[in-house]
This record gives sequence, C-alpha cells and structure tokens, in this order.
Amino acid sequence: MRHFLSTVDWSHEALDGLLALAADLKRSPLNDALRGKSIALMFLNPSMRTRTSFELGMQQLGGIAIVLQPGKDAWGVEFAPGAVMDGDAEEHIAEVAGVLSRYCDMIGLRAFPGFKNWSDDRTDSVIKSLAQHASVPVINMETIVHPCQELALMLTLKEHLGQLARRKFVLTWTWHPRPLNTAVANSALLAATKFGMDVTLLCPEPDYVLDTQFMEAASSNARASGGSMKVTHDIEAAYDGAEVVYAKSWGALPFYGDPEREWELRQKYRHFMVDEEKMSLTNHARFSHCLPLRRNIKATDAVMDADYCVALDEAENRLHVQKAVMMTLMGAAP
Ligand code: CP
Repeated sequence: MRHFLSTVDWSHEALDGLLALAADLKRSPLNDALRGKSIALMFLNPSMRTRTSFELGMQQLGGIAIVLQPGKDAWGVEFAPGAVMDGDAEEHIAEVAGVLSRYCDMIGLRAFPGFKNWSDDRTDSVIKSLAQHASVPVINMETIVHPCQELALMLTLKEHLGQLARRKFVLTWTWHPRPLNTAVANSALLAATKFGMDVTLLCPEPDYVLDTQFMEAASSNARASGGSMKVTHDIEAAYDGAEVVYAKSWGALPFYGDPEREWELRQKYRHFMVDEEKMSLTNHARFSHCLPLRRNIKATDAVMDADYCVALDEAENRLHVQKAVMMTLMGAAP
C-alpha cells in the first residue's frame, strides 16, 4: 500500500506521471474512476482551497468525501503513542485510523505543527502515526510539507514554461505579521530541485534558512536532477534573471515557539514584500504563491493583478493534481 505523505518518497518519474494524469483530467474532468470509493478528510486546521478541491475532486471522479474537523464536529484526537489521555482528546489515532479505514478507502489529514518545539514537530509524527495505524492510503493535506501544493506548482510551471530543467526558480521569504509554517517553503524547494530547476532560496538572514533535512534533501534532488540550489540574502542578486518568483513567509526556526523574540528579528524585513520594482529585475518571471495571501503585505496589488501572476492557475491545479493522486493511490489510473 502506498501513501502520499511527502514527495521525498516519490521519484521524479512517478511525480511526472501524476502531472501527466492531472493534465488529462484538466482536459476531461468527469469520470467514474472512483465510483463507490470514499475518502475521509480530517482537518485539524482551517482550509479553503484544500477542502474545496478534495471534496469536489472526489465527486468529479464518482466518489464521496467526508470532512471531519476533530475537536469541532468530531471527537478530539490524541496522536502520541503511550499517552495518558487525561486532556481534551477523547480518542486515540489508533482507533480513529482503524475505524476510518473500515469505512473509507483513503484518509487525508491536515495537521499543522504545534509551534512549540521544532525538534518534535520536525519529525512529522502526527501524519506518520496516522499512516502507521491506517490500513488504507493516507494523503498529506499539509503538515510540515505540502506535497499536493508542490504538484500544483509544478503543473502550473510546466503549463507556462514547458521544460523546467535549468530554469531559475527563486523562493523568496516575505514579510508577514507573525511566524508561519515552513511547509510550503520546504515543499517548494523539494519540488523545484526534483524537476531540475536552478533554485535560489532568498531569505533575510541565516536564521530563516529552512530545516537541514529539507535543505539536504533539496541538494540531493538537485545533484540527481542536474539542477542546483543556493541560498542568498541579497534581494537584487536573487531576482536578477529569475524565471519564477515563488513567495512564502515562514518563521525563523531558531525562534520556534517564541513569537515575541522572532518578532524582534522579522520586524526589520518588511521590504522583502514582492513588488513591481523587484519583478522588473527578473527575466519576465512568473510570480506565484500558494494562497491565502495578505495583499500589500506579502505582495503588492500590482503584482497580484499582473499578467505574470499565476497564483490562481496554481490554486485551480490543486483540483487536478489531487484527483490524479487519488486515482493513482486507488490503482485507478489508466
Ligand atoms: N494553499 C492551501 O493549502 O490553501 P488552504 O489553506 O485554503 O487549503
């Protein structure tokens, strides 16, 4: 049985196969490939795009999706092995995964990290415990990585640029009023390097470099794919000649769990917002972001409204790539 927890476990060829199927599904959205099948979608955090695209996608394939929000409309769940459950959670993931596996053919989970202790959160133990206890395929709907977003980004870039190898891809940190999850940034690095792009990670200072496990995985991807990866804190050098600018804000990991001290650091860096002046340094780059995005905080209105902004294409492509993932995990891909 195969899960979709992280693209680290999937080859470039397998991911390319998912993108090819997604492109077919985009041209021809309705079929009965998953008639009689079901997916439980567990959201421990809010969502607009992920929830809508999974629910709709399953329906377009003839199946059914059931949304559960543990702690809201479903019992709270404990994930830690051996926990003495005298807190708020009413049941353990062992039973939740077991029961949902009896009812459903797949389980999706969104579980953001706890923002208290990165040495715990970096292990991605919550989704791993679901996968351990489930007897059906599990899909990561965002934990410390966001592999569905990775696929949507790559499909979007292929649509706009064709071949991706050796294209200059800039992942830029952006300003935001509070420290956010690193998941999309981790995933952007993993995907762009796996597809052979020349990746530049632009961030204000070394404290904003991403976790070593993702930096090392991205470097390894780049070596295997013939791409490259480097880090810079120089805005002009990063934007110079870029063919893709991908923006995301995230918290500095050395200050994880301490937003007041992180604020001391980040308040100096409002100027990392993506604007037309920076975009003018690029090689007619496409701009994108996973959304949601705070306008005139992360990127200006002018950037968001420009022809080169492909964020809505990327959001649409979530639908198509997730249908490809579900069909593939169910053995229903042609
Ligand atoms: N990009 C993304 O995952 O959006 P939602 O948080 O709205 O699902």
